[in-house]
Amino acid sequence: MDHFSHVNGALCAEQVPLPGLAERFGTPLFVYSRATLERHWRAFDDAFTGVPHLVCYAVKANSNLALLDVLARLGSGFDIVSGGELQRVLRAGGQAAKTVFSGVGKSRDELAAALAAGIRAVNVESAAELDRVVEVARGLGVRAPVSLRVNPDVDPETHPYISTGLRENKFGVPAAEVMELYLRAHATEELQVVGMDCHIGSQLTSVAPYVDALAKLVELATALRGEGIHLQHMDIGGGIGIRYRDEQPPSPAHWAAVVRDCLAGQPFEVQLEPGRAIAGNAGVLLTRVEYLKHNGEKRFAVVDAGMNDLLRPSLYGAWQEIVAVVPRDGPVALYDVVGPVCESSDFLGKDRELALQPDDLLAVRGAGAYGFVMSSNYNSRPRAAEVMVDGEHAQLVRSRELPDDLMRGERLLSD
Ligand code: LLP
Repeated sequence: MDHFSHVNGALCAEQVPLPGLAERFGTPLFVYSRATLERHWRAFDDAFTGVPHLVCYAVKANSNLALLDVLARLGSGFDIVSGGELQRVLRAGGQAAKTVFSGVGKSRDELAAALAAGIRAVNVESAAELDRVVEVARGLGVRAPVSLRVNPDVDPETHPYISTGLRENKFGVPAAEVMELYLRAHATEELQVVGMDCHIGSQLTSVAPYVDALAKLVELATALRGEGIHLQHMDIGGGIGIRYRDEQPPSPAHWAAVVRDCLAGQPFEVQLEPGRAIAGNAGVLLTRVEYLKHNGEKRFAVVDAGMNDLLRPSLYGAWQEIVAVVPRDGPVALYDVVGPVCESSDFLGKDRELALQPDDLLAVRGAGAYGFVMSSNYNSRPRAAEVMVDGEHAQLVRSRELPDDLMRGERLLSD
């Protein structure tokens, strides 16, 4: 459930009509709803009531400071994958002690910054990374809290680009090597073993892969207890899907009930890392029709947002709903909604039934997660502005880039 709906003929974010925002801030424009973000975060938090737990929002899904601020105020933890994301969390008022650090390629500098800030756990993804954490912790004279990311080799049945828990994926430590690595970590003075971690993929629509993964994790955690290694937390990652079209993802409550079942009787705190399920349907991308054109039988609506603004359709063939902000009466036609970027893969949607005129506004739904964060300056296009709506108020939370922003740091030749 989100807070975007048509009222008196115009799509609104909460109580704010989108045409007014397009006038005020221009297009393309990402518009987020604070009430939706809070609702989604609370759905996860509430679902674990009675069980020690921490919701660590996956910052990569949408890292705008205002959005992190909203979640930090709710008491959220965070899952980060870079030093840049750590800086954002801290600037937005998030706590390092509630932040976990995932990712296969952490640099020495990133690890040092995270340990110096007092990170809750480094989710270690390989033996080589464990060695590096030891080296960095020794240099800083601190003890590093670590958790191993297990690759449970389960099939999340999602797009291959966003599956992470299969043996052939680059993520995590193979289950067969986990025990040995934990024993090594446990015996190392610079390390404190605090947890176990896992993330099997994204946009999952079934709970079955979680059940399979958790069975493996519980087996490993039990074996660790036999070795005198007691984990404080079990991090089950994120990946819960959302409805873009007709998917039927589990609700947070259903998903949590299954997780609670799998972990019943286990002594650890539950950690989760949802990203898309919190931010995805809390945002739309507003774009204006520049031109309508026909090439033979084919009709195109050329809009002012392109693959540089929203990459998911081009990269994954992802389907996201496109609606008229002010629907008009009149004959509908099938349009490919395409951007201005010079690539045939630059489309936001294909074969969409719409009644359109030039200058009409369209909204691409489900653009709150993996939207702005994946945008680029390809074709020297300034990145879009972002607005947060709260009730009847709208606040600019990121200015539209200017040509000077794009060229900052570049130089002409010196001679
Ligand atoms: N934790 C870790 C370690 C992750 O790698 C991810 C996502 C998450 C949590 C959050 O997953 P979520 O709850 O958002 O599914 N760009 C792709 C999605 C990539 C996801 C990468 N990892 C897309 O647009 O579909």
